[in-house]
Order: sequence, then structure tokens, then C-alpha cells
Amino acid sequence: MILGAAGPVSPAERRVLVPRITGLRCRSCGADVPTGPSYVCASCFGPLEVVYDEEAVAAGLSRAAIADRPAGIWRYLELLPVEHVPARSLPVGSTPLQRAERLGASLGIEHLWLKNDSLNPTLSFKDRVVAVATARAVEFGFDTLACASTGNLAGAVAAAAAAAGLRAYVFVPADIETAKVRQALAYGATLVPVSGTYDQINRLSLEIADEHGWAFVNVNLRPYYAEGSKTLAYEVAEQLGWRLPDVVVAPIASGSLYTKVAKGFGELVRYGLVEPKEVRFVGAQPSGCAPVANAFSAGIDRPVPVRDPQTIVKSLAIGDPADGQFAVRQAWATGGSIESVSDDATSAAMRQVATLEGTFTEAAGGCTVGAIPLARARGMIRASDEVVALLTGNGMKTPDALADPASSMLFKGDEIREEVRIPATFDAFEHWLEEHGGPAVA
Ligand SMILES: Cc1ncc(COP(=O)(O)O)c(C=O)c1O
Ligand SMILES: [Zn+2]
Repeated sequence: MILGAAGPVSPAERRVLVPRITGLRCRSCGADVPTGPSYVCASCFGPLEVVYDEEAVAAGLSRAAIADRPAGIWRYLELLPVEHVPARSLPVGSTPLQRAERLGASLGIEHLWLKNDSLNPTLSFKDRVVAVATARAVEFGFDTLACASTGNLAGAVAAAAAAAGLRAYVFVPADIETAKVRQALAYGATLVPVSGTYDQINRLSLEIADEHGWAFVNVNLRPYYAEGSKTLAYEVAEQLGWRLPDVVVAPIASGSLYTKVAKGFGELVRYGLVEPKEVRFVGAQPSGCAPVANAFSAGIDRPVPVRDPQTIVKSLAIGDPADGQFAVRQAWATGGSIESVSDDATSAAMRQVATLEGTFTEAAGGCTVGAIPLARARGMIRASDEVVALLTGNGMKTPDALADPASSMLFKGDEIREEVRIPATFDAFEHWLEEHGGPAVA
């Protein structure tokens, strides 16, 4: 599939619908809360979730209606918590579902697919959640978008704000990858580097959101933001020909993506778009910050926070994950698992995906693919299963995590070393070829 066209959308395309969003509900105690920029239950401090009028949703939804719409996440508008297709937004979603025969063979899996979300506008799946939160922020009348980011969210918020004509403030831990910082700056966002962890920034954001009245996509707009991850589930099912796979392998930071993909599949079954099927969910966390994987292994559903994350997978370095307990319960309930993946295994998996499938995924993708052999060893993934691995970010954002010995020999700082360069002559090349040989063909 190709990405849809960017730019203004005509009023007819915006598909004005019967109101579908009836309010918010507490996921812990079930209390009802009116639709608004709220994220926490006043009675029990539980997280809030969007509630839809199921009849209104069902009214516009069919495989044929969806097939007639342009590519991108808004083809599933009925299932998303915004009233209309936004007038100005980026072309997000409809990323390829790639068959991965060579990688599958090396992992002992007959039917492996890679959902390549590194091809979104800012090169990560965060464009999905941000598109939904931004559309909602505009509907609520906010003029400033903000986020607490582990890296990818900053670029996604900065770009979405630029496209929608909003101001953007992005808060990041000062030690994140420079490519991600530069990307956010390129879109004109105001960057706030903080010396602290993501969890500390997240707590700071709660205060700022209240005081300044800004739309923090993953804080006060979190119930809407989180729904954006469901579009990964809708696309996977549609791209498989409206059916569900046996296993989904997904990275976990806050646990939002992992749990919302399951919610998305559940909705497709409820609205009759796919046949019911028990999908097992395998989660991936870096072992240097694996509160959810540790809780899963220990048989407890409340993750113990990790105070000082130490991993090359910076995008997944959330020590106190908001949806951690829902993720653990989902792994148990679906017969899946949550794996703790070493940084070495993550780098090796990044190299495998790149060299066997021609797809350069970021460290989070390496961590995800690195979880597959661990889940295979536990018997959670079987050789004949149809497996979909979610590659959520682009390798160009985390090139150092590849830890490729050849490229570390090649560079001095950002430059190719003088002593490895050859003159532009045929003889020099022939001499070089004698010494080095060509790449091995697998
Ligand atoms: C590339 C990438 N993948 C996955 C995730 C996990 O997202 P979640 O917080 O929904 O678990 C993140 C979060 O920052 C990310 O940047
Ligand atoms: Zn509550």
C-alpha cells in the first residue's frame, strides 16, 4: 500500500458522523467521566479510557466502506476518538506488512511478517498516536501541543504540530539519541532537555499541563492518544485479508501499544470485520529496563519500577510504565509472554533484520525481534505459527545501537578515516578488492 496524500482535506472527505464518543470511563473502578482533556479518575486515580456508542460505530463500518477510503489511519475513523478527519494532518499509517522469509527461516518460523512502521512520516509508530491526540487537541481548542518523550514522540509531536499549525514544546531526557533531538528541532519545536529519566519528566509534565493549559499528548490527552495504536491492529488484519495472526510480537515501554493492539483486534471481532481468534501477545523489553518482563516472570501483575534504566534501547526506557499491569495480565490471559532482551541480542537482531530483510529498524525493533527466539524457547511461539512482529522505529534514528564492528573501524568521529579511502582509479580498486574481497552472498 502507498501512503495517502498529505495536506488539506475537503469537507466531503471529512466524513461528519453521528457522535460516537459518549465519554471517558475509569479502567479501574468503572466511573464515568465526561469527554474532555482528562486522564485520571477523580475517585480512585485509575486511568481513563474512551467510551464509544457501539451502534453509532457499527453504522458506518464495513470492509467495503473501509476499502473505498484513502490509505492512512483515518480509513478507520469510526473506531477512533475524534469527531472528524482532521482538516490538516500528516499522511500517517498504511505502512507495509512485509513477508520475512529469510529472517523467518533463521528464527525457525514458517510464516513471519514485519509490520514496518518505520516508514511513517517521522519514522516511527508514534505518528499514529500523535495524529489522533493532535486531532483531538484541535477539537478541544488547544493551541499548544507538548509531550514527555523517550525520543520518538518528540519528533512526532513536533511534526504534527507543524502540520496542524500549533506550537510545540517537547521534553526529553538529555541523554537521548542526537538524531531524535535534531529531528524535533527541524520541525520548529521548542526543545526542553531535562537532566532526568523519562519518569521524572512525566511527573513534571503533569504539573505543567495543569498550569499552562497545554495539550500533553501522552499525559492529559492520553486516553485519546492511546487509541491511535489500535490502527496497527486494524492494518495488520486488513493487510492479511481481514483475518488475525496467531502471534503478535510488540515492544513495551509504557505498555500502551501492546495493550491497544489487542483491544483493536477485539473490536474487529466485535464489529464482525474478522473471525474470532485467540491471538498470543509476546512483549519485548530491554533487560536494562524490564519492569514488565520482570513482573511477568515473577508471576506478579504490578511491575516494580526501575529507577535507573541502563540500555541502548532508549525509546523503551520507561521505568514506571503506566499500562504495565494491563500488559502483564494480557500476556497471561492470551498465552503469550513478555521477554527481557539483552542489549547484545538487540544489536544482533538489528543486524539480522537489516542483512536478511533489507530493513533497518531502530533498537526497539531489534529488541522486538530479539524476543522471538526467547518466546520460541518457552514454547510461546511455534514453528507453524503465523507471527507478526511490529517494527516501530527506523534504524537511522539509532545507528550506534547496531554496534557494527565494520562501521566502527570505518569512522573517526563522523568522518570516514583517511587511511581506509582509496584513490578514484581502477587499479586502486582492483588492489583493494584483492585485499578485502566482496561481501559474502547468503
Ligand atoms: C520505537 C518505539 N517503539 C515502541 C514504543 C513503546 O510504546 P508504548 O509506550 O506504547 O509501550 C516506543 C515508545 O516510546 C517507541 O519509541
Ligand atoms: Zn476510578
